Amino acid sequence: MPPITRLGNDLVDLTAPGAAGKAQDLRFLRRVFTSAEQDRIARSQDPDRALWRLWSAKEAAFKAWSRYLPALVFAHSRFEVDPEKGSVKTPEGTCRVHWREQEDWLHCLAWTGEFPEPPCWEVERLDPGVAAHGSEAVRLPSLQARDLASRLLARIGLPEVELRREDRSPGRAGPPVVLLDGRILEGMLVSWSHDGDWVAATVGQTSV
Ligand SMILES: CC(C)(COP(=O)(O)OP(=O)(O)OC[C@H]1O[C@@H](n2cnc3c(N)ncnc32)[C@H](O)[C@@H]1OP(=O)(O)O)[C@@H](O)C(=O)NCCC(=O)NCCS
Repeated sequence: MPPITRLGNDLVDLTAPGAAGKAQDLRFLRRVFTSAEQDRIARSQDPDRALWRLWSAKEAAFKAWSRYLPALVFAHSRFEVDPEKGSVKTPEGTCRVHWREQEDWLHCLAWTGEFPEPPCWEVERLDPGVAAHGSEAVRLPSLQARDLASRLLARIGLPEVELRREDRSPGRAGPPVVLLDGRILEGMLVSWSHDGDWVAATVGQTSV
């Protein structure tokens, strides 16, 4: 049987408050990263970027695995990243990861299994007009990320679908899912992320 296909993503705004200098935070390093990862950060020419690269892979891997494992608890240090291999070893198995980086942000895609087409993904700047919407500001990056995911879905021929966070008890929202006429499209995987001035989304189709 082919391995289950999973998809997750994570975005880090490298200009956000607290991003620069995080590699000096020893308590954070010890809590979040394995000793091999801590060594890698310490040896890096750009320790902050190396740290956020590892962090984004852990987060993207958690999102990918969480869809089919509702009881999975996210303990960052139990998700070990190997940047050379482009993989993350999780308590449940291994997934692949791929980064794309710019001066201001980095984006990580995590997946398992094979997709008939590579997942598509995009990063875009948070719309400043939208961000200026007073008390709703906290939720607006989320809305823009969903909107970006909808645009990616339209691009692959699914303009009529709906996006929702899966219900998880008690009263918890789980991973995002794609719905058509009120029913989850199990073959469509979606993930989104927002941080600081940026939002990102990815979609992948596992079956037609
Ligand atoms: C999932 C998680 C990694 C998200 O990371 P984040 O840095 O807060 O935020 P990001 O912007 O990168 O991602 C947020 C998006 O992730 C998605 N997301 C949330 N929970 C998710 C999950 N379990 N699986 C997959 N995707 C998830 C949502 O789409 C969310 O966007 P929205 O709130 O705008 O709808 C974080 O919420 C987390 O650590 N959860 C783990 C909690 C846990 O282990 N609980 C155990 C319960 S006992």
